[in-house]
Amino acid sequence: MILTRPQPKSFHVKSFGCQMNVYDGDRMSELLTGEGMVATTSDAADLVVLNTCHIRERAVHRVYSEIGTLKREDGTRPMIAVAGCVAQAEGAEVAKRAREVDIVVGPQAYHRLPELVTAARSGKAAIDTDMPILSKFGALPVRSKGQRTSAFLTVQEGCDKFCTYCVVPYTRGAEVSRPFGAILDEAKALVDGGAREITLLGQNVNAWDDNGIGLHGLAVALDKIPGLARIRYMTSHPNDMTQGLIDAHRDVEKLMPFLHLPVQSGSDRILKAMNRSHSRDSYLQLLDRVRAARPDIALSGDFIVGFPGETDADFEDTLSLVAEVRYAQAFSFIYSPRPGTPAATMCDQIPKEVMGERLQRLQAVINTQQHAFNVASVGTQTNILIERAGKLPGQMLGKSPWMQSVHIVQPGIVVGDLIDVAITAAGPNSVTGTPPEKRKAA
Ligand code: 5AD
Ligand code: SF4
Repeated sequence: MILTRPQPKSFHVKSFGCQMNVYDGDRMSELLTGEGMVATTSDAADLVVLNTCHIRERAVHRVYSEIGTLKREDGTRPMIAVAGCVAQAEGAEVAKRAREVDIVVGPQAYHRLPELVTAARSGKAAIDTDMPILSKFGALPVRSKGQRTSAFLTVQEGCDKFCTYCVVPYTRGAEVSRPFGAILDEAKALVDGGAREITLLGQNVNAWDDNGIGLHGLAVALDKIPGLARIRYMTSHPNDMTQGLIDAHRDVEKLMPFLHLPVQSGSDRILKAMNRSHSRDSYLQLLDRVRAARPDIALSGDFIVGFPGETDADFEDTLSLVAEVRYAQAFSFIYSPRPGTPAATMCDQIPKEVMGERLQRLQAVINTQQHAFNVASVGTQTNILIERAGKLPGQMLGKSPWMQSVHIVQPGIVVGDLIDVAITAAGPNSVTGTPPEKRKAA
């Protein structure tokens, strides 16, 4: 192979989409740093990695328009790698559709990025969309210093549920759990590297298992790591919510009182067409059990509006479910037909205007609930983990155990501090925390 292009000396990784992409992006950065490359901005980098999302059509469009804009300050084009789920779903087509692309690497193959960079130096696009999930983790370098205060740790990948609207089973493959020991080692390395909170990630994270340990057993083990203050996990499927995991919300001290449990629709007819394999009632009963174990738990969900065949009555069922649950926060999306999924070819696709109206109505209800949740916390005392500086001078931003963003102004606090505060004011998207000294002085 004749190498006509120079070895990149600097790189920039840009991640789109979910938290798992943030995790993968961090691991790619650590890998490239280990190869002697230096992280820099996208307009200076010799190599730009776009870590892409394929879940909705809009996410895919963003990637292709981003590729067109990639130019360095000196007017030359960097080496461009398309990683993530668009790479997996479209493979070599990516390089055909966007001729600027030099590397296409799927989410299970990015440990081979250094070899692909070498191959691309020949001037020919290098493609790797193999799916050997566990060998990826084994081949990546151990986690380095300088980790995020709130770090992600992928413990499970892929999905066997095949909801009829979703590309994940095709882009991330079958459900695979990483081994218990490897996860524990990585968690300890993250804490050594500065993490105080770990969010366990998986497309079906609560399906994680290694010889019957289950996610609750993993939480118990992580609870014992000195220096780790908080444990979270996402995203879960209702059918994998075991009693053990529910009980862990009562028994495991560091497991935070927050549960992201998507339901997608409140209509049994639509849930069936979505192949969700749970009903509205079974979901509500499950939440009753979760609340019995942990009464203060904050609930979050995902919703799709405008799934094929969704009638006004079906949508009203979704609104009534939301009213019944009282979410602390939730995400809602307009249905996006994805190539290759069963729902994309179902008849009765819903007109755009109808979907838009339904989304607005649903989001208005969810926003009201989120605000109400924040207002209800005013007057309570809690502790927050400081994650970053705020926009105003002297302001820092932290998270409450219930995932609320908390603004605080207090000299001397730094990222990574866990501090006690009183919640003194609430807005729709955040609350204000006041430190103990100020409260005494007031
Ligand atoms: N259209 C719209 N939203 C989708 N989601 C998954 N697939 C689609 C789609 N085709 C949403 C679901 C899921 C979240 C991650 O994205 O609500 O829980
Ligand atoms: Fe997609 Fe359904 Fe699997 Fe979630 S459970 S990743 S929505 S197929």
